[in-house]
Amino acid sequence: MGTTRVALLLSLFLSHLAGKVYGAGTQYRYNNINRASMQAGISPQAAAMPSLGNNNVESRQEQKVRQTMARDIHKYMNLSTDPCVDFYEYACGNWGRYHSRQLRAGELITAQHLVEARIAEQLQDLLTLPLPPQHHPNEYSAASAANVRKVRSFYDSCVAVEANTAERRQFLMKILREHGGLRNVPNSNWKPDYHWLQMLAALRRNYGLDILIGLEVDLNLQQLRGNSIYLGEPRLTIIPPEHCSAIATRQANVRDEIYEQIQQQVADNMRDWFGMESGEAARFSGDIVRFEFDLCKRMREEETLPGSEPDNQQESAQAPVYGGRSRIGQERLRQQPGGSSLYPRMTLTELTTKLSNWLDFKLFVESILEDAYTEHVYLRSQSYLTHLVRTAKANNPITISGYIIYRALLELNQPPEEQAMRRPRQCVHVMQRLFPQVLGDMYQRHVQRDDAQHDMEQVFSDLVKAFEQLLKVDWLDESDRRTARTRLAQYHTQLPDYQGVDLSGLQFQKNEDYWRRLETTLRFNSREYLNKLRGNDFAQIPEGTVNAFEVRAALVPRQQAVLVGWGLMQEPYYSYYYPKALKYALLGQRLASALLQAFDDEGWNRHPQATAPWNELTMAGYRNATECQRAQYSNYLSNQPSEFRNATRLREIIAEGGALNVAFNAYLGWLELVHGLKPLLFRETLPELNFTNTQLFFIYFAQLRCWAKPDEQPASEAMPLMQHTPQRWDVNGPLSNSEEFGREFGCALGTHMNSGKKCLIF
Ligand SMILES: *[C@@H]1O[C@H](CO)[C@@H](O)[C@H](O)[C@H]1NC(C)=O
Ligand SMILES: *[C@@H]1O[C@H](CO)[C@@H](O)[C@H](O)[C@H]1NC(C)=O
Ligand SMILES: *[C@@H]1O[C@H](CO)[C@@H](O)[C@H](O)[C@H]1NC(C)=O
Ligand SMILES: *[C@@H]1O[C@H](CO)[C@@H](O)[C@H](O)[C@H]1NC(C)=O
Repeated sequence: MGTTRVALLLSLFLSHLAGKVYGAGTQYRYNNINRASMQAGISPQAAAMPSLGNNNVESRQEQKVRQTMARDIHKYMNLSTDPCVDFYEYACGNWGRYHSRQLRAGELITAQHLVEARIAEQLQDLLTLPLPPQHHPNEYSAASAANVRKVRSFYDSCVAVEANTAERRQFLMKILREHGGLRNVPNSNWKPDYHWLQMLAALRRNYGLDILIGLEVDLNLQQLRGNSIYLGEPRLTIIPPEHCSAIATRQANVRDEIYEQIQQQVADNMRDWFGMESGEAARFSGDIVRFEFDLCKRMREEETLPGSEPDNQQESAQAPVYGGRSRIGQERLRQQPGGSSLYPRMTLTELTTKLSNWLDFKLFVESILEDAYTEHVYLRSQSYLTHLVRTAKANNPITISGYIIYRALLELNQPPEEQAMRRPRQCVHVMQRLFPQVLGDMYQRHVQRDDAQHDMEQVFSDLVKAFEQLLKVDWLDESDRRTARTRLAQYHTQLPDYQGVDLSGLQFQKNEDYWRRLETTLRFNSREYLNKLRGNDFAQIPEGTVNAFEVRAALVPRQQAVLVGWGLMQEPYYSYYYPKALKYALLGQRLASALLQAFDDEGWNRHPQATAPWNELTMAGYRNATECQRAQYSNYLSNQPSEFRNATRLREIIAEGGALNVAFNAYLGWLELVHGLKPLLFRETLPELNFTNTQLFFIYFAQLRCWAKPDEQPASEAMPLMQHTPQRWDVNGPLSNSEEFGREFGCALGTHMNSGKKCLIF
């Protein structure tokens, strides 16, 4: 179809071309709408005008959605490409052209980013427009309204803040002076005998900053009630996570460009904040980035799959990976004296002794809590903590203090956008971070709809049925399969719940500026968080799992639930009027991907209530099946079967591919169920698009994974490996592993998109 036809779309009545559209589908197996309609003598025109009649308004809206959808699908495609060679190019070839204007330089943009940007706009309105009146369906309770007013007043001060840097510098200086100062910053109230552990504890207590020693309050996994302290890796680092991990640092050097750039940034900041002289700033930044780089060597070790290279084995023999997902690592954990099945536990005094009596963990935790703490703590990553002690010992305390305070200031320094026009958007993001529950509540009230929720539950229940069928896979041993079926039946979807959100303890004074309010809020949030130690919220979904304004769904193993953000229930991910094929391909695939994570090694065997770990047969089969995917992905990226070793990413790949299969089968299940109900089937194709319903399923799966990056040169066709990016894999990988895809697009065996070797876990 040429572009002229698309241009005609609006003026032409749909039925005009519908004949050709349906006339094309002779070779399709699952739902031959053409044949069904012919046999029953229903003209194809009916397909374009579903349920016209009493419900006129809705039908018009439905038509509008369907037309827009069809137009968008078509305009993003590059129909001159062979779908069997590169489906990403076929489905997404023109996507970038329509979206690269919305970006800032260097930014990668996807459909998800676009939805997130739209949600931020909606939140901005919700933070500024009047609250819904009384007796409105979205009316706020008195408590929620009070929360919203508080957040709005903070939001207003955020928008009003001067981009003027003097106030911000004063704020940073105040924090610095109150936390021990720095030797090389004049007038910062430097206290040489203030131990960095005290500084660390104070920053954690006052602002909730998770630096150097990660501290989390989470459910006590041993007793499955009450909350406990977990110690491990910190959330905040200077080096971004993808460059701060055992894998990333293995072949890297701190003098590599990426780390040099980070050092430069640190030095620039120190000059900007405190007028530090260049030479001094360079020395300071060199010291603290080197210090962190060393720490990174033992972070995120569980991301590394055990390798086959000799140097790899040697290393793991010397230093057992405690946090590792390897079976051996797990068994070691299980044998920890007094440990739960998952994490070793000990008292703070025992921990101090165990880690060579050099860091007083009891002092650290008790100064955070401002209270005695005699309970056990659990260790999330003993290998990191051991390494931290070793690294800290080898460094000058002044470097460590400098590191801590710099990381804290970096977090607190959120420079206001220079352009006032951009301030509101920035402030929405600040509010999302500081008050996720209040903003989640506002967004949910604004967009929630019973019909959408009902639809989602229906899709999910079909996914569960389809998944149950797919549990027939060879690698699951019969007894484990039975257990999996039983557990699968217990899964359900859930939406975020914001009852009981209470900001009454948060008090702003009139006329306080933004920086002051920021500090007050951080203190309040930190106190609330630590107060959870007294709570017993096993029955609740852990806070922050997924918020209503997020475009994703996530597994909550404890509740056997998939928690869904309302962002996923917006176009283009979902519309009530979408054909079922799209509902399953988009929403369905995303829900299935979350669900499947309960049924992989990590989700099954390391689940807090894992009562029935897989037997050896299943385990061996699973290892074999995942190795197929790992090697396939590694070959795809680098032509090297052993190079790729990122366990977290592998888990995503497995879930995404399996979820596509589950969603497609759920759709087939639905088609069988409605077999013969023509009015329903007519809706399954889109006006003007010469694709069957099942082809559309795959096209839309692909199009939600299109991306664009401004100034990105198209990769040369002479160097095919350059085109093999993780983003392109996300489309071509799962599709080329799908038997049905190859069939639907008539790709011969051996073409790129239908290679002989398929790897699938489910
Ligand atoms: C569409 O695909 C063809 C063949 O792959 C390519 O030559 C052409 O440049 C693509 N068009 C656009 C607009 O990207
Ligand atoms: C491993 O994969 C995860 C998930 O995709 C990613 O966030 C992380 O940065 C990766 N790690 C490295 C070292 O690339
Ligand atoms: C291992 O997986 C491959 C597919 O990747 C399969 O053909 C083979 O039968 C499996 N072997 C075992 C022992 O499960
Ligand atoms: C529709 O697609 C089929 C192949 O998929 C092709 O044979 C047919 O000519 C196309 N029809 C129109 C109207 O473009």
